[in-house]
Amino acid sequence: MSSFRFRAASLALAAGANLACAATPVKPIEAPHLAHAAGRTALIVDGAPFLVLGAQVNNSSNYPAMLGKVWPALDDMHANTLEIPVAWEQVEPVEGRFDFAYVDTLVAQAREHGKHLVLLWFATWKNTGPSYAPEWVKFDNQRFPRMVDRDGKTSYCLSPFGEATLAADRKAFVALMTHLAQIDGSRHTVIMMQVENEVGTYGLVRDFGAKAQAAFERPVPAEVLARQPAPVKHAASGNWREVYGDYADEYFHAWAIASYIEQVARAGRAALDLPVYVNNALRDAVEPLAPWKDNFASGGPTYDVIGIYKAAAPHVDIAGPDLYTPASAQIDATLTNFQRPDNPLWVPEMSHAPGYARIIYDVLGRGALGIAPFGIDYTTYTNFPLGTKEAASRTIVEPFAPAYAVFGSMDRLWAKWAFEGRTHGVAEGDDRKDQAIALGPWTATVSFQEWQFGEKSWPNHPTALPPGTETPSGGASIAQVGPDEFVITGQHARVRLAPTQPLASGHGAMFARVEEGHFDAAGQWVMERNWNGDQTDWGLNFTATPVILKVRMGRY
Ligand code: DGJ
Repeated sequence: MSSFRFRAASLALAAGANLACAATPVKPIEAPHLAHAAGRTALIVDGAPFLVLGAQVNNSSNYPAMLGKVWPALDDMHANTLEIPVAWEQVEPVEGRFDFAYVDTLVAQAREHGKHLVLLWFATWKNTGPSYAPEWVKFDNQRFPRMVDRDGKTSYCLSPFGEATLAADRKAFVALMTHLAQIDGSRHTVIMMQVENEVGTYGLVRDFGAKAQAAFERPVPAEVLARQPAPVKHAASGNWREVYGDYADEYFHAWAIASYIEQVARAGRAALDLPVYVNNALRDAVEPLAPWKDNFASGGPTYDVIGIYKAAAPHVDIAGPDLYTPASAQIDATLTNFQRPDNPLWVPEMSHAPGYARIIYDVLGRGALGIAPFGIDYTTYTNFPLGTKEAASRTIVEPFAPAYAVFGSMDRLWAKWAFEGRTHGVAEGDDRKDQAIALGPWTATVSFQEWQFGEKSWPNHPTALPPGTETPSGGASIAQVGPDEFVITGQHARVRLAPTQPLASGHGAMFARVEEGHFDAAGQWVMERNWNGDQTDWGLNFTATPVILKVRMGRY
């Protein structure tokens, strides 16, 4: 979905400019879009890769009166992008009468505060349910049918086969995108859209209504066959059961929901072509793959059905994981599962519990488009136990602010390096073990719970842990900007670099330069000091306050 796009507004402006001065070349205004190269993807905003250092508000903060409690949280966190709902119920409370006053206020305030927006279209499905649909939708089962089980019993979840539901949702989303094209088409405050929220169904594997059943018995579409292998081999073609066996019900439901979202997304993008993603309430990423057994929302874009979403929803660019499972093995497997050449890594939600701050280094190191902790505002709500217990202002953002500050100071550069495949990252695991990062001729070893001086192996090494490392809190990100040159940042981590291949006897490697500094607004490196002596003898030690190091290695 890349290439240049021209907004109607900018064309009109351009036409005017041409009349005024025919000789002035007109520069097309490029809308936010995804660019793809070598199996990697960048989110291009205003002509260059953009790194989303995002923050998502609490669910009910999508009203103008709440915004005053939103912007200070984003500023304190050093976030550059706000993820915030636009609820169907608030823009079309009465059928056919649209009210975008909230959207206008939001976009205007985002510009004043220097933030981009990712808008979350809470409509037919929000955490699978219809709570954000207008009342004229959610209480009319005749016109907007719910799913039914094998016995005909009604589920809470709206059916993806509800034609009137789809038509109404699509119409409202198109109205929103048309409005955005008018107010923001040439400004690019809004950089991405999420369609629906954590879709799927709890407690029921799929719709068993007449229309759904008829579709289930039809042949699996060729594009699904091409992109979604069966976990257990059955027939190469045929109906859903014949092809996917015990996985058929879940896979069919994923196809039904993805097809519905595709209709909404495609129509909306015809009005304003912004990147679109769906987010996912995860299934267990570590346990061996097995058919649905009421253990996750069936039909959502879980890692095992990304191929179905790709086949059924070509206007949905990304399926992104919502990270709320603290176990590091789960997070690691999830990030690996969701990052594919056809599915760029983008973490639309993550718990704001302090232990998640270290995940930023891993996610951005993997070259993600960005990340956004959830529940970031000063409305004093907290979703503990998913999030932190203490909802006082600042306590929520404090763990994330240091990492966002360093990445924010080089966000465009980092996004460019990520697109070039130069970035790497780790987060401290629950096992607290060292982790290695392969950097061609060099290997970085990242260790944790280290003091800044000395070795854990020393007999007189302090037994006390460095403050803040009692629970896993470390992370490090490295951009390899030249064969022997690196930009490194991290927190609660020690980074060492050594040749990947042992050097010939009598030869060795050592730091040539370890400059601490920052990148200026033009992206030029500004050195503040050179680390040497104690500061480099025991590796590069990052404390709770990350800094940026520009490191050059040498051999003798
Ligand atoms: C994930 C959902 O996407 C969010 O909207 C929110 O409900 C969180 N879970 C829980 O706070």
